Amino acid sequence: MFLLVAAVKQQYNKIVAELIDSGFSVTDHFMSAAEVRALVDEAHRLFEQGEFRHARVGTGEQLTKAPEIRSDRIHWIDPLQISHTQQPYWDKLGELKLAINSELFLGLFEFEGHLALYPAGSFYGKHYDRFEGTAHRVVTAILYLNEGWQHEDGGLLRIYLNEDESEYRDIEPLGGRLVCFITERFLHEVLPANTERLSLTGWFRVRPLQDEHPFVSIN
Ligand code: OGA
Ligand code: MN
Repeated sequence: MFLLVAAVKQQYNKIVAELIDSGFSVTDHFMSAAEVRALVDEAHRLFEQGEFRHARVGTGEQLTKAPEIRSDRIHWIDPLQISHTQQPYWDKLGELKLAINSELFLGLFEFEGHLALYPAGSFYGKHYDRFEGTAHRVVTAILYLNEGWQHEDGGLLRIYLNEDESEYRDIEPLGGRLVCFITERFLHEVLPANTERLSLTGWFRVRPLQDEHPFVSIN
């Protein structure tokens, strides 16, 4: 038990060190194969029950369906109703948040997240995760839920490392893999997936100042 706790702590420390070093971090086996399988089954159940909808872009009145920008379907997770299946991931995110806060002093406060299902042929064009109305997003965290993903399946996450977009890193959406990055720093996109692609994507946010507007609903 003690060894297990130490190994998990090491995982958090590695993520924090990479965030400090390069602003992004990729960790395999963040969740076990069994935990991933349970999340996949639950996501499919929710999808069949009609609990996913077309993702939109923008906020407030500008919120529109924009299939030329993104064609995934999403299901927002209600933080007050975390399922038994989601709980282990939520618990780990809570510990990761503490580890990040203790080193980076970002004052992360809460996590908002959604399941994202990309039917075959779907993609998400170049974008930043921070736009008007979402200034409180500080760290992006994406857990991939694709067991047995093959290179031919496409669906790479492409993170641009410099302004002129000449340097980038491609990341395969392998089941159990966690990608974290400092939200405001990286332009990124999801290249077309040739087969269904599933993830649990979210953001650690800071608490708004008292005189600021409350959170607006976003996607
Ligand atoms: C997003 C996003 C990346 C991915 O949902 O904002 O960029 O690899 N997702 O799923
Ligand atoms: Mn994004």
